[in-house]
Amino acid sequence: MNILTDSERLAELDAEQLHRLVGLVEHDDARDPFPVTGWDAVVWAVGNATQAALVFQAVYGMELIAYSGPETGNRDHQAYVLRSGAVRFELRGAVDPDSPVADHHRAHGDGVVDIALEVPDVDRCIAHARAQGATVLVEPHDESDEHGTLRSAAIATYGETRHTLVDRSRYTGPYRPGYVARSSTVVRPEAAPVRLFQALDHVVGNVELGRMDEWVDFYHRIMGFSNMAEFVGDDIATEYSALMSKVVASGNHRVKFPLNEPSPGRRKSQIDEFLEFHRGPGAQHLALATGDILTTVDVLRARGVQFLETPAAYYEDPELRARIGEVRVPVSELQSRGILVDRDEDGYLLQIFTKPLGDRPTVFFEFIERHGSLGFGKGNFKALFEAIEREQERRGNV
Ligand SMILES: [Fe+2]
Repeated sequence: MNILTDSERLAELDAEQLHRLVGLVEHDDARDPFPVTGWDAVVWAVGNATQAALVFQAVYGMELIAYSGPETGNRDHQAYVLRSGAVRFELRGAVDPDSPVADHHRAHGDGVVDIALEVPDVDRCIAHARAQGATVLVEPHDESDEHGTLRSAAIATYGETRHTLVDRSRYTGPYRPGYVARSSTVVRPEAAPVRLFQALDHVVGNVELGRMDEWVDFYHRIMGFSNMAEFVGDDIATEYSALMSKVVASGNHRVKFPLNEPSPGRRKSQIDEFLEFHRGPGAQHLALATGDILTTVDVLRARGVQFLETPAAYYEDPELRARIGEVRVPVSELQSRGILVDRDEDGYLLQIFTKPLGDRPTVFFEFIERHGSLGFGKGNFKALFEAIEREQERRGNV
């Protein structure tokens, strides 16, 4: 059983820290038809990867580790590989105007093209996925360079998103064959924390109206994932907006995919807005785990990151005060930063959401600090909806 991925080992995370950060559980790979070790990388297509890579370094404190582009023989696009703890992002921007990266960007805007997963056995996963009816986009194959051999394949998921499956067990290079090691030119300010987030907690997918259960079934059937307890139905809705949400997770709970579909409301919901501007299903938000959300928010805010505002009423609501109980800091510390709290039978979590990262009202980040809770902030959905709707109203998309 593989407890840690290479990137987690590199980030000097241990199983105990991961348990605390992302709610990792024990799991027996041998009985799993599609064992998943953990996240490999999130691949983005953006309008300008050169600039985006600078922002991810200078603002989000990520470290540049690898590069591919014309200088390395890739005439199609540039790709910058960035790391923060165990989180790995690859940012792709088209060099050739006819690049598929440009097509993806034209259709969907800045966003996620690939949620790559590390697996111990690519062929076993693909054989199972194919037998269950998955669309295999890339057949299992080896790529080699002086650092060894990397085996991978890819299957299609919602929209134009894919899951590349990667076996790194015979590869020691910085990322993949075809990429060269590259280090940051951005200098971290002396007093700044080494990193602002350590691990990827979950990636949320927005899918079409009425198709959430199909995608839940996809993750059950194709990838052997199981449902986590959290379920959001019509009951959680504001006057205007509603969504339906279920969560599927890999056996070890390292990889968690909440899936949302819109639920008809009086006005256009945030999921409808996403689907309209993203031109179809896609990754809505990535939750980044931090051990100190207060510092993360303070640093990011000072660097210009904008977060969703939380109404003062949220913190003053006696029901909320009673529901959240004791947390590690006074509620005033959370209120001054707009950090949300949710509690369940296992503990609590602190979370906050950024505004959309790109020009379209689509993908955004969540920062999450878990204290035992394995949830996703269900209790905050209503407060969050109301905050998002205020933003939607400002954009004129209601
Ligand atoms: Fe989330």
